[in-house]
Amino acid sequence: MADAASLSLPAQDAAARIRAEIDRLYREGVVHCDDGFVKSLYPTSLTPGRGRFLGELARQLAPRATLEVGMGWGLSTLHLLEGLLRAGGPHQPHIVMDPFQHTMLHGGALRAIREAGAANLIEFHEVPSEIHMPKLVEQGRKFDFIFIDGDHRFDGAFVDLVFAHKLLTPGGVVVMDDTEYDSVFLACRFAETNWNYSYVAGHSDRASADAGRHRYRNARPRPQIAAWRKPMADPERSQHHFNSFVDDFSPYIRANRMRSSRLAHAGLVALRAGDREAARRSFRAALREDPARVKNLFRYLRTYLPPGMARLLTGRSKHG
Ligand SMILES: C[S@@+](CC[C@H](N)C(=O)[O-])C[C@H]1O[C@@H](n2cnc3c(N)ncnc32)[C@H](O)[C@@H]1O
Repeated sequence: MADAASLSLPAQDAAARIRAEIDRLYREGVVHCDDGFVKSLYPTSLTPGRGRFLGELARQLAPRATLEVGMGWGLSTLHLLEGLLRAGGPHQPHIVMDPFQHTMLHGGALRAIREAGAANLIEFHEVPSEIHMPKLVEQGRKFDFIFIDGDHRFDGAFVDLVFAHKLLTPGGVVVMDDTEYDSVFLACRFAETNWNYSYVAGHSDRASADAGRHRYRNARPRPQIAAWRKPMADPERSQHHFNSFVDDFSPYIRANRMRSSRLAHAGLVALRAGDREAARRSFRAALREDPARVKNLFRYLRTYLPPGMARLLTGRSKHG
């Protein structure tokens, strides 16, 4: 890995320009797109803390080949590129995929990366990861650093992780964002318990007192973004059995919370369809499952307000 002093001037300049673009985006809090669309960076983007974690990890590990799933507004890509430049790279274009970059994100990330002078450092594929990653496997490509922040449902995160596993070199590192979500965390637990991946490091923006919110019996506190290392040799695995990867979850509490959030989701869907009675029933049932989730009490109460007043009180245009 190159130290700061040994970095070439163009690499230092390029890293500084990317840093200036990251700082500008965070300062303004919005992204401007070529078609005039302007949108808040959040909740899509990595926070500065998570971005620092990702960029610093890339700088320290100085990987030679990198891959990223889920570009959003480009913050993760920019942090990664800054880290790679500060480590003397990138040694080949950083591969990024996101199927919705133009349809939903108005090309905002591509513009930010262009403005950071980094367009020539990436190879962008506007396709779903579950389509593009198998192609990379077929081509025999290998990567020593993969960042995943795409489809956060369990099946999406798990499929991404399965292909990341096939694409990673032995000893390579995969970083997953949103590891406080059950879906993402469970996928990572599978990698730990069945592929022998070892935990490298994690980061949480929450104050440590609050980090316990995501703590489960017999489990370590959960970070919001975390890295795992692939072992140097794959473990022997049975065709018929797998190691349980759900042991960390207290079945009672988790089942309760999962049922509660499913019911709350059904309530929101009913509200959007204009069926307040069905929404009330769902929110009431969600509260019975998990009374500590006070948000559902407010959602329930708001179903009695005229829509205009609900908007006025919450400043939201939707009922969530
Ligand atoms: C949370 S955002 C990513 C934010 C980004 N990493 C950042 O920090 O700036 C999730 C992104 O994943 C993309 N995405 C969703 N499904 C995907 C898939 N199947 N393959 C690749 N990207 C996907 C979405 O379009 C969205 O841009």
